[in-house]
Amino acid sequence: MTITVVGIIGYTGRMGQAIARSIESHPTAALCGGVTRKQTLSEQHENSPLIVTDNPEELFPHCDVIVDFSHPTVTPMFARIAAQHGKAFLSGTTGLEEEGYAVLKEVAEKIPVLHAANTSLSLAVTRRLVRQAAALLKDLDYDISILDKHHRWKKDAPSGTALTLGQSALEGNEGTHEPTYASIRSGAIVGEHDVLFSGAGETINIQHTVTDRKVFARGAVQAAVWLAAQKPGFYAMDDVLGV
Ligand SMILES: NC(=O)c1ccc[n+]([C@@H]2O[C@H](COP(=O)([O-])OP(=O)(O)OC[C@H]3O[C@@H](n4cnc5c(N)ncnc54)[C@H](OP(=O)(O)O)[C@@H]3O)[C@@H](O)[C@H]2O)c1
Repeated sequence: MTITVVGIIGYTGRMGQAIARSIESHPTAALCGGVTRKQTLSEQHENSPLIVTDNPEELFPHCDVIVDFSHPTVTPMFARIAAQHGKAFLSGTTGLEEEGYAVLKEVAEKIPVLHAANTSLSLAVTRRLVRQAAALLKDLDYDISILDKHHRWKKDAPSGTALTLGQSALEGNEGTHEPTYASIRSGAIVGEHDVLFSGAGETINIQHTVTDRKVFARGAVQAAVWLAAQKPGFYAMDDVLGV
């Protein structure tokens, strides 16, 4: 059995810790360690088998795949370092600028890269439903409105997932109706998305709700194991699921 060795960027974060826990229960993944800027934490791990460090050069050589859930300003830099080490790179970080995506696509010529604003496995199905509804309503008088609800600490709005769902709607209707976006940041909501197709006197609501970030973590680990075995290229969750 091949074991895929994973390193996490954003190790101390909400997602980083959920992914570390998810790896513990995965039959073919093993955690190598993580990157943190917190010096004290890396000192605490000095005698631990995990490599917890502020220096990616100490961690990346020991991994098969790097999983990044950190901050959009640093994702491109970590992707370049992964490419220098020839390691697969999966990023779930949202809020990337166009230049950030350009870097991911550039390094995908050397290593397998996957970016997903939402690593929940059922979101791929939701996107497909949205695409289909938008295609069926393409010539009719419907507004498309996308609402995302997240916890108070989420930095980007609209969420990366909301933008992905909007992209699916545009693929379905070939650009006849542009979606509009609204975001709520409140309490500890993990992630909820509503895609409303509203006409005169009626609304279709396609809703995707995540109540536990384990869902994102599980999908991310499954995708990381899959990605480590791929050729260089730029991949999406649809490729992992074969949809
Ligand atoms: N794809 C998905 O399914 C999905 C699901 C949920 C969240 N997300 C996205 O994942 C990202 C992280 O979310 P989260 O809720 O885990 O956030 P979080 O709890 O704030 O954790 C982010 C971590 O990234 C690290 N970090 C932040 N800025 C950094 C920098 N400049 N350099 C190096 N490390 C840095 C921090 O680690 P240190 O302080 O230890 O350095 C922090 O622990 C966000 O973009 C979020 O939108 C994606």
